[in-house]
Amino acid sequence: MTNATRALFVLFGGTGDLAVRKLYPSIFNLYKKGLLDTKFALLGLARKPLSNEEFREVVKNSVEKHAESQEQAEEFASHFYFEVHDVTKAEDYEKLRNNCNELDEKYDLNGNRVFYVSMAPRFFGMVANDLKKQRVLSENGGFNRLVIEKPFGKDYESAEELNNSLNAAFDEDQIFRIDHYLGKEMVQDIPVIRFSNPMINAVWNHNYIENIQVTLSESLGVEERAGYYDTAGALRDMIQNHTMQIVSLLAMDEPQSFVDQNIRTEKVKVLQSLNFYDENGAKENFVRGQYGESSDSKAYRDEDGVPEDSINNTYVAGKLTFNTPRWGNTPFYIRSGKKLADKFTRVDVVFKQPVVDIFSNSGLESGITNNVLTIYIDPRGGVSFKMNVKDAGQGFHTEKVDLSYLENDARAEVVPEPYERLFHDILKGDVTNFASWQEVAAAWKFVDPVQKLWDTTKPDFPNYTPGTMGPKAADDLLARDGHKWVYPEDK
Ligand code: BG6
Repeated sequence: MTNATRALFVLFGGTGDLAVRKLYPSIFNLYKKGLLDTKFALLGLARKPLSNEEFREVVKNSVEKHAESQEQAEEFASHFYFEVHDVTKAEDYEKLRNNCNELDEKYDLNGNRVFYVSMAPRFFGMVANDLKKQRVLSENGGFNRLVIEKPFGKDYESAEELNNSLNAAFDEDQIFRIDHYLGKEMVQDIPVIRFSNPMINAVWNHNYIENIQVTLSESLGVEERAGYYDTAGALRDMIQNHTMQIVSLLAMDEPQSFVDQNIRTEKVKVLQSLNFYDENGAKENFVRGQYGESSDSKAYRDEDGVPEDSINNTYVAGKLTFNTPRWGNTPFYIRSGKKLADKFTRVDVVFKQPVVDIFSNSGLESGITNNVLTIYIDPRGGVSFKMNVKDAGQGFHTEKVDLSYLENDARAEVVPEPYERLFHDILKGDVTNFASWQEVAAAWKFVDPVQKLWDTTKPDFPNYTPGTMGPKAADDLLARDGHKWVYPEDK
């Protein structure tokens, strides 16, 4: 085990929902696997006072179901400490500095510090600056890494402002912008599927690909998050970040080598080659939706905390094109929404039909269909390829067969949770699976005109029924190009 995996975690929002539900179990799993040195400590910060013992109870409860024994959970929780902290009070940082130094010494942590900010986004910049100004960062050669949860701004301008304030205290390679989709097994599989299979790599361009579809579908509604969601909407909540990240992995050119900086270079390059829309482009290429009611489900406007005249989007579909030799006119269609037919994420790559169909040219009713490569991201990972073969029998027809691989239970069980993987990357200092500033910036620049258009025009909402795949206009968006969504037809 190397010294690099020893660290002090300082968690702003230490008793928050994310910490308890996701972060502590993830750190625990790393600890169990020996990927986190037994020399580690975590300092949880929150405004409401708690003793170390009470905090450890919270931690124990959160990891219990992953523990092999009560003793193991207890030993793990014994590394946790709590401090009351008000991010607006200078004197609290002094206390924080002292506590960090003490824990560093106690656990022999070599000055390695991970600052994880899981709190209201308006505090991100301020916290980063105060950590530096008040000398909470270690100064003995250990690493200081800053982890920022979403949302990273609400448009390009605010994101840039936030980034500038982070940069005043941390360098880009010390900043880890979390996008938990980048921690998903099958999202990480995209480059492997593309670049380790010459047959796939060779046809990954506009000569062979008719269109690519990315769907992030959710069956739940807004739940208890109206306060946040009604100001974000699906465009900011799911498209600007998760969807654009998936698109960049699908569209990028082959990196020179599979190391973080080279991968970032290609992702940035392709995102910057998007055809950015003006207002008219946004109008033509994006569709918004909001769910209405059904017999067993409330309309968005009737959900707790949602204004009854809300024009917030709970559904987005859009068409993207890239100005690169690889992509020519091949469209990428993206969509995401709440209260849709099912909870899943998938990518459908629709290939072109043969340039010449010698079967139908010869008067045969061959019925060739487009090859489709599907990458299943959630809930179960997998890949399928639909191709044409001759059907059995006297006539001459083709039929579609499905070569498919679906992750089995045994494999699904060993797939780490996104946050577990991301924590491990943070400890290694590997930024591959985190969004760089330039990626975030390009994604905002792309969605901003859409948001602006939607903020200034009144939609006819609600326009889709819970349990469907969104408004009809989303089907029309593809039909206009002679295309259609692969899902739900080809579930
Ligand atoms: C979050 C969004 O980033 O992703 C949520 O804020 C959404 O609104 C969630 O429900 C979906 O994540 P997953 O991993 O369940 O697909």
